[in-house]
Amino acid sequence: MRILFATSELYPLIKMGGLGDVSCNLPQALRKQGVDIRIVLPAYRSVMQNVKQYKTISTINVPDIAGDINILETTLPNSPANAEVTLYLVDAPAYFDRDGNVYSSAGGDDWNDNAIRFGLFCKAIVQMAIGAADIEWVPDIIHCNDWPTGLVPALLSFHKNRPATLFTIHNLAYQGVFSEESVKGLGLPNEFWKHEALEYYGNISFIKGGLVYSDYITTVSPTYAEEILLSEYAYGLEGLLQARSGQVSGILNGVNYDDWNPANDCLIKAPYDIDCIEKKYINKADLQSKFGLPLNKKTPILACIARLVEQKGINLIINALENILVEQDIQCVILGSGEEKYIAALENLRSRYPNNIAIYIGYDEILAHVIEAGADIYLMPSIFEPCGLNQMYSMRYGTVPIVHHTGGLADTIVNVDSDTLRARTATGYTFNDINDDSFLHAIKNSIELYRTSPEQWKQLMFSGMRKNFNWQVSSSTYNRLYQFCHDKKNQSWPLLSSDMHV
Ligand code: ADP
Ligand code: GLC
Repeated sequence: MRILFATSELYPLIKMGGLGDVSCNLPQALRKQGVDIRIVLPAYRSVMQNVKQYKTISTINVPDIAGDINILETTLPNSPANAEVTLYLVDAPAYFDRDGNVYSSAGGDDWNDNAIRFGLFCKAIVQMAIGAADIEWVPDIIHCNDWPTGLVPALLSFHKNRPATLFTIHNLAYQGVFSEESVKGLGLPNEFWKHEALEYYGNISFIKGGLVYSDYITTVSPTYAEEILLSEYAYGLEGLLQARSGQVSGILNGVNYDDWNPANDCLIKAPYDIDCIEKKYINKADLQSKFGLPLNKKTPILACIARLVEQKGINLIINALENILVEQDIQCVILGSGEEKYIAALENLRSRYPNNIAIYIGYDEILAHVIEAGADIYLMPSIFEPCGLNQMYSMRYGTVPIVHHTGGLADTIVNVDSDTLRARTATGYTFNDINDDSFLHAIKNSIELYRTSPEQWKQLMFSGMRKNFNWQVSSSTYNRLYQFCHDKKNQSWPLLSSDMHV
């Protein structure tokens, strides 16, 4: 079976968040199992600057929007020899050869032609999928990811000999909803303008393309797969997802321990592991000195690396810090980029507590490793979290996570209590109610254990470090699912009944 993995982000070429990591690591893990999987990505400017060699393998025509565009072929950089992955790039310079990031300009505003940019990307993938791109390799399965690829299953529904389609929801909060005006250039078929199809309150929803038309749907953790059936998490799509619940399942993301392993991490000052855990304190001192914080081995360092958006519970972090700093000597290091209001509040906190708070606004892969290695406690009070990767990275680095019990956080962290501590199964602190008091309570409990019971704290670190969330199990599950989609193609489709409310 041939699988084409369609994505808008791909580490190490272009990454905004966890989608970039998954798009690199899942195909690599599948390649290691001998699966013939390839990736397709837009040829963004920054990608082209980092791709060393490529060849043009096809020219396709996308009328109205772009005319002739090229499909380029290269390989995913840094792939191990036994997991080399072919990468196709959709090269439409008018739409992708720009400064700024995947979805927005350097100034932070979403590109106003995002519907056209990703509509074009989807149309190019459809041509590759039906063998119209004159590329010898034609896929049996298209694995689509999030709204930028949502039109692929929808457009393929018009083709009899289409490949099977799998759609993975990484984050239902981002749906790619566009006005009639903004999708005009795409010439979408009239059938799409029905609520059983892509229409969403008078607009077109790209993510509905994936949710309505794909053969199967996955999300990135079992708990999130249940949560998205509820209005609290589904942003208006719960009816649709409930109707399709027989074809929805959650597969936990994995971690690439070649990149995230303190034992051989060349981005940190002193690599370490359970048997030489004292070296973690060299990294702690390095973190304190890099961020201009007082060098003190005993002061607990709390950390957070995240997109500074509501989802990540940044308000809870700010409120908790305000509260703790009046009574305790702690340090906190935050790395992130995102909304101005959070940046301003964090800057304000730093100006009042310069010896305790350090922040770096921006995206920095190296600092992310330095922080994971040097900190003691990792803060992840996400309001919702489809999977989350940093709690898993943190555990491997012996940096104890404090997380809201939701989505993938609930599926990966075992809460500290007297039983789990005794049984040495605890790996972090979880809190159930998303409010300031619950989070603060969890932080205070963690700091108390850190200060008063160093041996128990060490055991807690070790239990996390021993956890293994590698991609092997999840990628095998995806592999089985590809076969299932292939066998069941068309049998369960179309799936919507006309009385369904979405
Ligand atoms: P999400 O995809 O919702 O942002 P995840 O936890 O799945 O959340 O993945 C976030 C990924 O992005 C992690 O690999 C994290 O280390 C990385 N990351 C987020 N912000 C930054 C930043 N400012 N600098 C470096 N890495 C970052
Ligand atoms: C999304 C989610 C995050 C998940 C990532 C990769 O961005 O917010 O929880 O880990 O995708 O699947």
